[in-house]
Amino acid sequence: MGENIIPLADLRYAAAVPRVPDQGYAPGGLLADRLGRPLRDLRISVTDRCNFRCSYCMPKDVFDKDYKFLPHSSLLSFEEITRVARLFIAHGVVKLRLTGGEPLLRRHVEGLIAQLAALRTPQGDPLDITLTTNGSLLERKAQALADAGLKRVTVSLDALDDAIFRRMNDVDFPVADVLRGIDAALKAGLAPIKINMVVKRGTNDHEIVPLARHVRGHYGPGVVLRFIEYMDVGATNGWCMDEVLPSAQVVERLSAAFPLQPLEASAPGETAQRWRYADGGGEIGVISSVTQAFCGDCNRARLSTEGKLFLCLFASRGHDLRELLRGHQPDGAPWTDAQIAAAIGLIWSERDDRYSQLRGAQLASSDDGRRRVEMHYIGG
Ligand code: GTP
Ligand code: 5AD
Ligand code: SF4
Ligand code: SF4
Repeated sequence: MGENIIPLADLRYAAAVPRVPDQGYAPGGLLADRLGRPLRDLRISVTDRCNFRCSYCMPKDVFDKDYKFLPHSSLLSFEEITRVARLFIAHGVVKLRLTGGEPLLRRHVEGLIAQLAALRTPQGDPLDITLTTNGSLLERKAQALADAGLKRVTVSLDALDDAIFRRMNDVDFPVADVLRGIDAALKAGLAPIKINMVVKRGTNDHEIVPLARHVRGHYGPGVVLRFIEYMDVGATNGWCMDEVLPSAQVVERLSAAFPLQPLEASAPGETAQRWRYADGGGEIGVISSVTQAFCGDCNRARLSTEGKLFLCLFASRGHDLRELLRGHQPDGAPWTDAQIAAAIGLIWSERDDRYSQLRGAQLASSDDGRRRVEMHYIGG
């Protein structure tokens, strides 16, 4: 890349420095955004790097050897992440998810988990702490993660067939290693394990039934398989609607092999619609963010690896919390917890994002002159 060219990455990381309200207000766990949605779920990206190159997330031709990943100095430290998490918990967050990129590539991520596991809600309860991984390092790391206080994991797995899996991760990674990672996670007690399969019509949709059969037969009800509609997230994956297989068709194909019955949502704001096998073989979920948007009660905020807060997976702008963590007030004093918490409260109270819903109604502008943030940078 020539010296005068601004790397793509820099355009993507646009973020405003948050406004700190003059009158701080104490977080009471009752924050609501402009659409009345509470803040319950914080997703923390701990690295923007990944050892896979799934075409729907980090296509090889963009994320090649010249791609500029974030330098180590710009990453939030574990202490900074834990401080931010504590402030979010005061505002009502009860669930923390570590993501990437591939979160197990962050050195000693179990140290961060141990710090987060020590946090408590205002009511004194431990947090629901989980992690989304591609499973490639799970066999090696599962026990250490559990020992550090991780409760459960979600593993991405797009095919059972080795050739298709290798093609989808695009680095020739064998599926057997991921399956051994899942076994190790079960052995370490990281259950219930969720397995997420992104379905691309024409690429892996014929793997839906075989994967379901394998999960039912091999693991039983302790593992929940979920099928995700391929989304138009980011700006690099060349998304087109033809490659989306609507969840209704996933359910149709599955029920032809294994009859299904619908289940009630287990929590408000849940991404997946749940179904159970009529024969008691466990449950599955479908995540239909393209054909049936679930913005109405979206309670998720996302913190990027370098401390920028994004209020929607499809946002093109973040809020630079790192500026408050590392910067100073005009009089030279560091910003206090109360001030940063107040700034977070203000940001959430002004939130009106509902991209998927507007896209469904054909109102979303996918080109407002800015690039949308990429998923490997803010996590899944
Ligand atoms: P648990 O069920 O508690 O484990 O979490 P979850 O249902 O939020 O699932 P997870 O974090 O594994 O997310 C699954 C997938 O759903 C992600 O990889 C995304 O593809 C999609 N997803 C998650 N959150 C959102 C969201 O806020 N908006 C949209 N459009 N898609 C999302
Ligand atoms: N569409 C749907 N899900 C995606 N993910 C990444 N990119 C996409 C996309 N374009 C999700 C997958 C993957 C996780 C890390 O992020 O669930 O498992
Ligand atoms: Fe890596 Fe997950 Fe993105 Fe695939 S989807 S490139 S495994 S972060
Ligand atoms: Fe939430 Fe944005 Fe996803 Fe809607 S599109 S569910 S607002 S993250």
